[in-house]
Amino acid sequence: MTDPTPPPAPRLAELPAPVIAEARATVYLGDAVELLPLLPEASIDALVTDPPYGLSFNGHSWDDASGFRESLPQLDTSAMTAPEVFEAWCTAWAAGALHALKPGAYVAAFGGARTWHRMVRGIENAGFEIRDQIAWLHTTGMPKSMDLAHAIDKHHGAHRTDRIVQTTDRDGVLGATRTVVSKGTPVTDDAQRWDGWGTALRPAFEPIIIARKPLAGTVVSNVLQHGVGAINIDGGRSADNRWPTNVVFDQEQADALDMLTGTWQGESLSRKFPIFRFDHKPGREERPRAFGVSHSTVKPLALMRWLITLVTPPRGLVLEPFSGSGTTLQAAVEAHYGVVGVEKDPSFIPLIRSRLEA
Ligand SMILES: C[S@@+](CC[C@H](N)C(=O)[O-])C[C@H]1O[C@@H](n2cnc3c(N)ncnc32)[C@H](O)[C@@H]1O
Repeated sequence: MTDPTPPPAPRLAELPAPVIAEARATVYLGDAVELLPLLPEASIDALVTDPPYGLSFNGHSWDDASGFRESLPQLDTSAMTAPEVFEAWCTAWAAGALHALKPGAYVAAFGGARTWHRMVRGIENAGFEIRDQIAWLHTTGMPKSMDLAHAIDKHHGAHRTDRIVQTTDRDGVLGATRTVVSKGTPVTDDAQRWDGWGTALRPAFEPIIIARKPLAGTVVSNVLQHGVGAINIDGGRSADNRWPTNVVFDQEQADALDMLTGTWQGESLSRKFPIFRFDHKPGREERPRAFGVSHSTVKPLALMRWLITLVTPPRGLVLEPFSGSGTTLQAAVEAHYGVVGVEKDPSFIPLIRSRLEA
């Protein structure tokens, strides 16, 4: 019998033609693991990226081991666990980024709370120096938790007559949604005992890893020779001129802090700290839609703009290997940086185009 697995496509020897080539933005359609090593060596000033977190988000293959394995045809991943495959994949894209970045160039990469340790190892394995971690605190994450008592009732074949679930077939960014309006009354003894138990906390924080390609010499000699190697402290100051911090609040988180702590010397406590007040999650106007497609993991533009400003020299060139709908690209272009983007899924290219044309 013949092996049904198709052989991996031959790897590219040079960069393909970009699908978008504008004055300040170039976008390639393809796999970042394959394309980054083909970028000119030491040509990029900073990497600002929102890569897959390896959480199988909404069942997307780009966020699970099957997608990562596809990027690594030369590596035998058959004996690896899913987290190990994710780490190997992070090492692979980070190695490509190391090649393309200038010595001393910074990396700002989002991670998921459950998997970022693998990404950090991948970035470090590739040869970067881990410099810091920014905690992005936000308020709109939804817990993906099992209702244990309900699962136990189902396990015992007991049906709750007073449970109300509303299903929308509205075409939202995340597709159809199910809302439990009333969880109903536990039926079995076991369910009554475990009522109120679940399996997950509500996500309210995402880490952003800050790393740096090793310097060539000292910070001073590197900055003078390559134009990168330091953080733009003044460019990253908040409205009241405070030093940028490694904690970033959204408006609701800052308000929650103020509510808990009250005021001190007539001022809200959040103002005493260098807290950045970002739009927590992008609004409708920040979620482009083209040909019926939208992206489910869009980041806020203001946050991306701040990160880019922090780690990129003015008018420098930013790399975003996992463009999605193009938030990083739009933020870079609007703030007068150049940007090189890569995206594997062709259905997202019109979204990127619409952002860059806006
Ligand atoms: C977390 S999303 C980025 C979302 C983006 N920040 C936004 O605001 O729209 C990650 C993106 O990486 C893309 N991707 C996944 N694996 C890839 C790979 N190997 N090469 C290039 N892009 C990839 C996915 O298709 C997805 O659009």
